[in-house]
Amino acid sequence: MALSCLLSPRFLAFIILLSAIPVAIIVSLERAQPATHVYHYHSTGWFRECSKWDADNNRFIVSFIEGGLGVVPVPEKEDSKVPLEEVTVVKELNLGRNSSAGLTIDRTRNRVLVVYTDVLRYRFGAVGAYDLSTWNRIFLTQLAGPNDEKSIANDVAVDAKGNAYVTDTKASKIWKVSVDGKLLSIIRNPLFTPKEWYKSFIGLNGIIYHPDGFLIVVQTLSGTLFKIDLTKGEEVKIIKVAGGPLLMGDGLELLSPTKLVVSGFVSRLVESSDGWNTASVVAKFSGIRHRIPTTTTIKDGKVYINHGAGMGYPRKKHVIVEALFK
Ligand SMILES: *[C@@H]1O[C@H](CO)[C@@H](O)[C@H](O)[C@H]1NC(C)=O
Repeated sequence: MALSCLLSPRFLAFIILLSAIPVAIIVSLERAQPATHVYHYHSTGWFRECSKWDADNNRFIVSFIEGGLGVVPVPEKEDSKVPLEEVTVVKELNLGRNSSAGLTIDRTRNRVLVVYTDVLRYRFGAVGAYDLSTWNRIFLTQLAGPNDEKSIANDVAVDAKGNAYVTDTKASKIWKVSVDGKLLSIIRNPLFTPKEWYKSFIGLNGIIYHPDGFLIVVQTLSGTLFKIDLTKGEEVKIIKVAGGPLLMGDGLELLSPTKLVVSGFVSRLVESSDGWNTASVVAKFSGIRHRIPTTTTIKDGKVYINHGAGMGYPRKKHVIVEALFK
């Protein structure tokens, strides 16, 4: 299956140009039977940063490195031998080559929010909201432009009132945008600056809203987990994590109010019994690493890990892999 795509002459020639060794490694890794359930889907793009399960509509929603959103419908009767198909649903022509990064489903308002970012030059950031049924744009709000400090708008969470919070991975700050798309404020805090200067290169990343009224955010290179209490004037605290730090943590998703998935090259299951003042790593899972595990989503109570890199020629195939924590 994946092997035949990999062995297409052009793709092979391209890889051999880089080195002969990666071919051997990738072929053997692709050939290995994954230990857990995997959704494969055909796609037009080579990188998909984020996918979220849209339970009401039986589909994944995925964000495009080339900008835009797609859906990957999952039929009632799954046939694991037939890859699913990605269908483009959002493409903002004015945004040129900005990428789409994190996305979240705001079920209460039947919309999806997605972050746009200029991953190569750090000179543009925006957040867009779209109707989940019609894909009509509700708002598209610029967060940063060429005259602002450099930024990498990355992930987004929505609170109970519909405010959106977008992380900046470059300058470790959070933009707050109202339910109707107005940029309200920017959350900054000295705690967001890691002690070691070199750990600030990949800063605030995955973000989620907890139903008890606070945000949880992970900082990738330092592995620090933050609690931002919206009921206490956006007070920022570091969550003490036994078994941490959560180095290279990328995506976040709540499995339950006391269980958090922190995905990345190694994904961790983190639990808290005191309202996320302290927590501990209780289990880990390693995905298909050569496909670059990124974000996470929950489907039917199971954890799935998005993998960024698509492979194959002429049609690239992506994987969303079930995580079994051990
Ligand atoms: C991102 O979008 C902005 C706003 O339309 C545009 O000015 C900029 O050139 C775009 N960046 C890229 C890399 O296409």
